Amino acid sequence: MEPISRKKLTVRAPGRINLLGEHLDYNHGIVLPAAIDRYIDFFFEETTTSTFYMEALDLGEQWQCWPADLYQTQTSDWQTYLKGVLILLGLGDPAILNRTKAFQGLRIRFTSNIPIGAGLSSSAALCCGFAFGLNEWFGLGKSKMELALIAQQTEHQFAGVNCGLMDQVASLMGQADHLIAFDCHNHVIEPFSLPLADTQLFLIDSKVKHNLASSAYNERRSQLEMAFEQALELFPDLANYRDLQVAQASKLMHRLDSTVQKRLQYVLDEMTRVQQVRQVALELNALAAPALYQKLGSILSETHIGLRDLYEVSCPEVDFLQSGLLHLPGILGARMMGGGFGGCLLVLARSDFDWPCLDALFNEYHLLYQISPRIERVALVEGVHLIES
Ligand code: GLA
Repeated sequence: MEPISRKKLTVRAPGRINLLGEHLDYNHGIVLPAAIDRYIDFFFEETTTSTFYMEALDLGEQWQCWPADLYQTQTSDWQTYLKGVLILLGLGDPAILNRTKAFQGLRIRFTSNIPIGAGLSSSAALCCGFAFGLNEWFGLGKSKMELALIAQQTEHQFAGVNCGLMDQVASLMGQADHLIAFDCHNHVIEPFSLPLADTQLFLIDSKVKHNLASSAYNERRSQLEMAFEQALELFPDLANYRDLQVAQASKLMHRLDSTVQKRLQYVLDEMTRVQQVRQVALELNALAAPALYQKLGSILSETHIGLRDLYEVSCPEVDFLQSGLLHLPGILGARMMGGGFGGCLLVLARSDFDWPCLDALFNEYHLLYQISPRIERVALVEGVHLIES
């Protein structure tokens, strides 16, 4: 292992979008995310304080901690995520901390332009970028997949959100100008391009985030896990929901209550839609036919309906925007994106979409909810990496 020679290091960690495969990551499905040009930049610098000193520059907040105190230190918000990553990387343990060189002290400042609560995975970027930087700094030798798993564990153990692995993989392993097909069962990643020709993808931030987001998220996850246990009783060799045949699914449905039936139906439908979208992407790479964009748009909108009516993770504000958008000329499809209960919508529109058309919808939204939505145009970028400071 390389001894550490660095005195400074700068890391850039992107947020993510997800084209399709919502709530499939913890159901062993395939998801289609991408890293985007909204980042957290971390500035690592050696100090002589013998502490970890961390500073959220945008918030004007600092947190300092001696490695030996990490376990018992009380934290909240961003500090909790950083504490989790430090602990899970073993940096509260002097043997690991001083493995290559006696610990002198480290200052990490960070600044972000990822909107918080918009469903663009700011917390995954925080954990992934921080873990990546520490891995470099201390020469821990962990792979990006190992770092993704540590960032995910941080959410589970320290933030109490039993999330899947999509956000962390997208943030760490995104590729410029590409989406990735991430198979959450075997962790295989296949980058692919989605030629947009005469169309564009953009986001609309509803600027709402409802409190029940994490509790409802955990509930959905455990509903599907319990249903899978039922599935295993019926079909002991079943590896995951993807392998469930139609006849098996209907047998399983009989064992489930009506709420869990809806949840499972959404998951099975979404798995089919992911296959359809991958096929559309393949065909678009051969020929950018307008009908394929129509199809892509319809699939996005179908996902929204599923998330709204079957998985029940949408909210009135986002539904209002989604249905309003579909009435506008030039909009091919729209859906809520991410965990749900607020955040961004992903929209597919024709390139000549007349932006002022949005004004009336946004005004109505403002009248109803006293919130001004925001358009976010994003580019697909590479995952977490070092940058020149
Ligand atoms: C959140 C979670 C992810 C994923 C999405 C829904 O972003 O962190 O793991 O489950 O919701 O697709």
